[in-house]
Amino acid sequence: MSDEAAVKIIVRPNGPLRVEGPIQLTDADGKQWDLTGKPAISLCRCGASAKRPFCDGSHNKIGFQCSASPEAILT
Ligand code: FES
Repeated sequence: MSDEAAVKIIVRPNGPLRVEGPIQLTDADGKQWDLTGKPAISLCRCGASAKRPFCDGSHNKIGFQCSASPEAILT
């Protein structure tokens, strides 16, 4: 897979999952969100967003605390 086609997911400290790249986002029934013109999205991982699955910034209001980093670094 070339880097151009790769999806990149960034774990934001105390915040959402930022997803960049060619994205298809569907619900459990396969219905797809229209992401036309959006090269990246932020997905809520705190559970407090009123616009789930998207982050609406509520993680700041609730003081969500979670950071994650890999134990091994890949090059
Ligand atoms: S991570 Fe931002 S509202 Fe949940």
